[in-house]
Amino acid sequence: MANATHDVARESLEDQERLLIDQAIAKNGNQPGALLGILETVQSANAHKFLSMEALRYIAEETGVPPARVYSAATFFALFNLEPQGDNVICVCRGTACHTRGSRDLLDKLCLDLGVGDHEADENSEADKMALTTPDRRFTIRTVACFGQCALAPVVEVNHHILSHVNERTLQREVKSLTQGRK
Ligand code: FES
Repeated sequence: MANATHDVARESLEDQERLLIDQAIAKNGNQPGALLGILETVQSANAHKFLSMEALRYIAEETGVPPARVYSAATFFALFNLEPQGDNVICVCRGTACHTRGSRDLLDKLCLDLGVGDHEADENSEADKMALTTPDRRFTIRTVACFGQCALAPVVEVNHHILSHVNERTLQREVKSLTQGRK
C-alpha cells in the first residue's frame, strides 16, 4: 500500500519537479529538522511560489516524515503557500497598530480595485491566513498578523518591499505601477 501511494506521488509530479525536490532533500539533509528548509527550497524554486499536494506527498515519501507532519508544517507557517501565487504579492498588515491606523480600509480598497473576492465575512477569522489571487494571477493579496514594524503603521509589503505609513493614494500608485509593468 505504501509503495502504491509512493508511486502515485511520484507519477503525478513532473520529472523536473521531482528532481528539484530530490535536490532540496539532498541539500537540506534527511533528518526531521530539515523539513522546513526542504519546504522553503521547493517553494522558492516553484514558478508560482507554492507547494502542491503532490509535492508534499512526495517530500513525505522521500524523507520518511509522516505526511500529516509535512502538511501541518506547510499549513502552520504563513511563509508557505498551498495555492499558486500571483506575479505580484501585496501583503497588508492586520495587526492592532496597523488596524487602528486604517489597514482595514486599505485592504478593502485594494480588494475592490483588483476585483478579488469577498474577504469581509469574518472579522475574527485568522487574519494572517488570508490570501486571494486575481483570476489572471497577476496579483495575490495577503494579510499578516504583524510585520514587527508597528511604529511605521500602517505597513504594506509589496513584492518583499516594506512600505510605511501607507495611505490609499500611495498604495494605488504602487498597484498602478505594477499593473503598468514598471516594477
Ligand atoms: S501591527 Fe502592523 S507592523 Fe505591527
